[in-house]
Amino acid sequence: MTAHRFGDMDPEAFRREAHRLADWIADYLANSSRYPVLARVAPGEIRSQLPSEAPVSGETFDDIFRDFEKIILPGITHWNHPGFFAYFAITGSGPGILAEFLSAALNQQAMLWRTSPSATELEEVTLGWLRRLIHLPDGFEGVIYDTASISTLHALAAARERAVPHVRHRGLWAAGEQRNARTLDRLPFVVYGSDQTHSSIDKAVILLGLGHESLRRIPCDADFRMRVDALRSAIAEDRAAGLTPMAVVATVGSTSTTSVDPIREIAAVCAEHNIWLHVDAAYAGVAAMCHGYEHLLEGAATADSLVVNPHKWLFTPFDASVLYCRHLDLLRSAFSLVPEYLKTTDPSAVRNLMDTGIQLGRRFRALKLWMVMRHFGAEGLRDRIAEHMRLARLFASWVDDSETFERLAPVPFSVVCFRATGPVDAIQIDVDALNERILESVNRSGEIFLSHTRLHGKYAIRLAIGNLHTTEQHVRRAWNLITAGLSEASRLH
Ligand SMILES: Cc1ncc(COP(=O)(O)O)c(C=O)c1O
Repeated sequence: MTAHRFGDMDPEAFRREAHRLADWIADYLANSSRYPVLARVAPGEIRSQLPSEAPVSGETFDDIFRDFEKIILPGITHWNHPGFFAYFAITGSGPGILAEFLSAALNQQAMLWRTSPSATELEEVTLGWLRRLIHLPDGFEGVIYDTASISTLHALAAARERAVPHVRHRGLWAAGEQRNARTLDRLPFVVYGSDQTHSSIDKAVILLGLGHESLRRIPCDADFRMRVDALRSAIAEDRAAGLTPMAVVATVGSTSTTSVDPIREIAAVCAEHNIWLHVDAAYAGVAAMCHGYEHLLEGAATADSLVVNPHKWLFTPFDASVLYCRHLDLLRSAFSLVPEYLKTTDPSAVRNLMDTGIQLGRRFRALKLWMVMRHFGAEGLRDRIAEHMRLARLFASWVDDSETFERLAPVPFSVVCFRATGPVDAIQIDVDALNERILESVNRSGEIFLSHTRLHGKYAIRLAIGNLHTTEQHVRRAWNLITAGLSEASRLH
């Protein structure tokens, strides 16, 4: 490979390697199922094959790519594999991958409007498209972050800004001053989630200085939805104790079971008490674009903020999370800070993305979302999501019809939680251990990858469908492997 006079790749070499990589990626995407879905390496195995020092002189791309295939690829867990059913099975797509390639080539850093007018304005337009597709009202403005954890952190920072207006200047001391009660032995703010709310909420309250003890985990009903009566009681109790309820986080598509909290009722409680309502629709929010699901986010119309992740179930390569917020001014009050060297003469109406978050620099993530939405079209997106939900219902019907398995939660979207109850003739077995063994044995197969959770104290196997390439045949194969796994695990028991 010829070195460019600036040390970079020669343009012709770049062209050649880019073509080679395009071929490699196309083959990989067409044949991702020929790899074991879960990486078969031991901890440290990849590291031990790599030198501890960076090379002194530059190396050829041939050598670099050879090591990519030989050393790096074996340590890849294939999220693109159609048998990936663990966690939330996410999937990129051709247009999204191409957009990432372009985005890397353009190397946009969209901190200010002028540092990337297109990234700034395309973000606004694309998030308007997505907002209308999922039937959120006009008052919501969108911002792209990397992950839902960061979107939620920003939402709760805006909620904190509203609750403690001088927090920026005085820190959380302002909370004590506000109530003229410096003697409080804890900060007076409370955030509510359910016992199913994602752990990103815990991290947000910790990071925002509210303290982990400020998070109340409200119990759920039998179907894993936040109990509104329990929320009301907790709020009343906290108020009586002189505390200030600051925010409620309700979930549409909770992590373990994809349950949907009663958003409308929770929104009514929040309105009554002037509490910030953040809706975590990171996984399931996109389902609102499907026929028959148009009302999914209706109750969230009066929420203060809502997060939805295109990188989870909208075929957009990781990472891309969207925060919709009805008070972008509060987000700006929390985060905007313009040193001299970033001041511009652009009209004040332009959006500078650095004003709405902790990061200064921003990647050009809107490009991939725009290309994905244009490639699939609204109908194409709906069809894929609806198909994943059909496959999940089909799998759930096999579980329901089986004498040796039981379902442990409703299936509102594309995740099924279930467990083996044991061989029919078993007298007394440790059902949790049996299911752990089934999970280990199917994951060892290399054909599928499943994860687990615990529901009402029971070990539950989770099957999540979200990959574009997953077909009924893959789901059937998963069921066959699981039932075979039960036979094997029972023999060993
Ligand atoms: C409901 C929910 N919210 C938030 C998150 C965090 O997502 P991220 O990895 O984008 O931070 C997850 C992750 O699975 C989730 O299930």
